[in-house]
Amino acid sequence: MLGCGVVGTGILELLKKNAQTIEARLGVPIDVTRIAVKDASRARESVVPGSLLTTDPRGVVDAEDVDVVVEVMGGVDAAGELLMAALENGKHVVTANKALIAERGDSLIALAEERGVDLYFEAAVAGGIPIIRVLREALASDRVVALRGIVNGTSNYILSRMYREGLGFAEALKGAQEAGYAEADPTLDVSGGDACHKLAILATLAWGVRVRPDQIATEGIDQIDAVDMMFAERFGYVIKPLAVARETESGDLDLRVHPALVEKGSVLASITGALNAVYLEGAMLGPCLLSGPGAGALPTAMSVVSDIVDVARNTIAKAHARVPSRSVLSAQMRVRDVQDIGANRCRFYLRFSVHDQPGVLARIAGVLGAFDVSIEQMVQEGRGGDDEVVTVVMLTHDAREKDLKDALREIDRLSPIASPTVAVRIES
Ligand code: HSE
Repeated sequence: MLGCGVVGTGILELLKKNAQTIEARLGVPIDVTRIAVKDASRARESVVPGSLLTTDPRGVVDAEDVDVVVEVMGGVDAAGELLMAALENGKHVVTANKALIAERGDSLIALAEERGVDLYFEAAVAGGIPIIRVLREALASDRVVALRGIVNGTSNYILSRMYREGLGFAEALKGAQEAGYAEADPTLDVSGGDACHKLAILATLAWGVRVRPDQIATEGIDQIDAVDMMFAERFGYVIKPLAVARETESGDLDLRVHPALVEKGSVLASITGALNAVYLEGAMLGPCLLSGPGAGALPTAMSVVSDIVDVARNTIAKAHARVPSRSVLSAQMRVRDVQDIGANRCRFYLRFSVHDQPGVLARIAGVLGAFDVSIEQMVQEGRGGDDEVVTVVMLTHDAREKDLKDALREIDRLSPIASPTVAVRIES
């Protein structure tokens, strides 16, 4: 094992508690023989055998008696180099590292294929939900049309607690960190970066295409205020951190990570706390929901160890690389155009902060109209009068994103606008 933090400790606990079950299924036990950590003297849980700790990760990937290298150290550069070395050495690799697979998966998987070894990463997306297996194996006979997911537990946890308990952003984030959901650097969670990595992996598997994280339009939940949740609720919506991937009519891919208003009674609205979900649509299958814990030591460890079990089964059957890591072999991966976010069409929630002056609404409505954005509903909140700043919330009809953004740029230059307008997509 490379790394022994929250997930690594969870793996050791699971291997201990489920040792008999796993051995009964495999016919052989799984032995952890070496654990590379940064600081071997740090106090650890009793489940971590001190005698296996080493500060030499290279020694682990080079060791003759290691069949499978399990990477749970995180980070891209050092982890990437170690796993390339492991694959070069003919070791099978299991990793929970979404940033690494999203950014370097292509070269790692190509090397694994060349060497005829397995490289699995079930835990990299949505922790304990077996979404990678579903895309790679269960849907091997179908074509994915669209998938919409909540794949960052920390963001979902924060928005849920802000919505239900009126907690402030910072306090809610602290709760996610204490529960072990958040990344070491939680800006990755709240900026949408973590979900972006996961969506890149999902889209790659769903369509057999190379998707780079920088092709995904990404916005975090940090722009969402408690007041937006309150207004959303009034209009019959909740705000959820979404990751969306779908085929457009022209055959391009529409890839987006952003918070969005979803109808209160909808499937994704019911996914609360740190839960994750992926709601996918197969051309033959139709709609299908997978939901469960997307973070946390044991659910994530469950996915990692299931990958180890798969590698072990392949070893016993002498059938490594039977199922390609990404459902299609590297040589068959295709390139598909990604739709510019400006071309996206949807309804929008808009929150304006305006000085309450005669004619303000007419000016806002005039600019929206000039850019072909039509207002569907509107509400004004605040005492108003005497040039006070009030909040005006509008829901639009379907609009092209570029038109909406151009209109808002112009509106935010108007003198009665007190602060930049907040725009949140409504996902149907
Ligand atoms: N920080 C991640 C999350 C952990 O909150 O979803 C699982 O990848």
